[in-house]
Amino acid sequence: MHRHFLQWHITHECNLQCLHCYQEDRHYAMPYAEMSETLDKYEEYIKAEGFEGQINLTGGEPLLHPDFFRIAADIRSLGIRLGILTNGTLINEDTAKALAGLTPVFVQVSLDGSEKVHDHIRGEGSFKKALKGIDHLKTQGIKVLVSFTVMQENYREFRKVAAVCASHKADKLWWDRVVTDDAAQYITTDQFKEISGSAARLAKKYPFISNTRALQWIPEGGCGYECSAGKRLLIILANGDMMACRRLPFVIGNIGQVPRLQPMLKSNDIMKKLAAPVFPKGCKECPHFYKCAGGARCVTYAQTGLLNARDVNCYL
Ligand SMILES: C[S@@+](CC[C@H](N)C(=O)[O-])C[C@H]1O[C@@H](n2cnc3c(N)ncnc32)[C@H](O)[C@@H]1O
Repeated sequence: MHRHFLQWHITHECNLQCLHCYQEDRHYAMPYAEMSETLDKYEEYIKAEGFEGQINLTGGEPLLHPDFFRIAADIRSLGIRLGILTNGTLINEDTAKALAGLTPVFVQVSLDGSEKVHDHIRGEGSFKKALKGIDHLKTQGIKVLVSFTVMQENYREFRKVAAVCASHKADKLWWDRVVTDDAAQYITTDQFKEISGSAARLAKKYPFISNTRALQWIPEGGCGYECSAGKRLLIILANGDMMACRRLPFVIGNIGQVPRLQPMLKSNDIMKKLAAPVFPKGCKECPHFYKCAGGARCVTYAQTGLLNARDVNCYL
């Protein structure tokens, strides 16, 4: 059974204001009645497709939503897998216990550097609070993923974040490049090569490091990467807007106006375009093309406006 992922931004409100955040509107939370209808439509969709569903609740900061625990419990009562993406700063002992009661497959906490750099990106005091959150989650036996978003501010911080993850017993550390219209935050190809090499070496010491995103297989020669946009991924924002990928700027409809997801997703031109195989110029002769397929389309599109192009940071 194939797994399908719904990345659901239930609120756009946040207690932090991160430098790189793609969320512009910060004042909208989806009301419970709309969340309930959305969940019904998603359940019907995965049943119709024969998918195993996984809903990753995110935001903004999802724990700020007044009905977070209610909708999370609804998700679990339908037998749908639950992941939670949070900045970790609001997780105390009681919250961690309540989260454990939901039996999530993971809780992801963002760490974007060691204390000074993380706080510069995410706000004063946020690093220490996030680490406390991680510790509470681990005490409750919850699997903790750490997400590191790479940009100019922090591309040399990966080693330090890996050491922090080791000392706080995180289960997984994964990283990916920022996608923003602030061109000053993009990392160069040399910098990408540097962090990729460092991450591959560190993965030998820290097996919890996951180098599975676009092009990250290059130093290890490992398995490839396939962008799931248009295939087994759907994004729903707090205002109901749906996207194929949160990092590609295409709204494909609004869940409130769609009676059933399956016909809409199957007939949508953007979904079809993204699901189709890509053959970027300059990649066809590459012996690694079969396991790369052009790399991260979102990163390349943000920097070039091209969807069918070679990854901007490819150094092969
Ligand atoms: C949008 S946040 C929401 C959850 C939570 N508030 C947090 O900070 O993790 C989820 C993840 O998206 C990442 N993110 C935000 N803006 C991004 C961007 N422009 N490009 C790439 N990742 C981004 C964050 O760094 C974080 O790891």
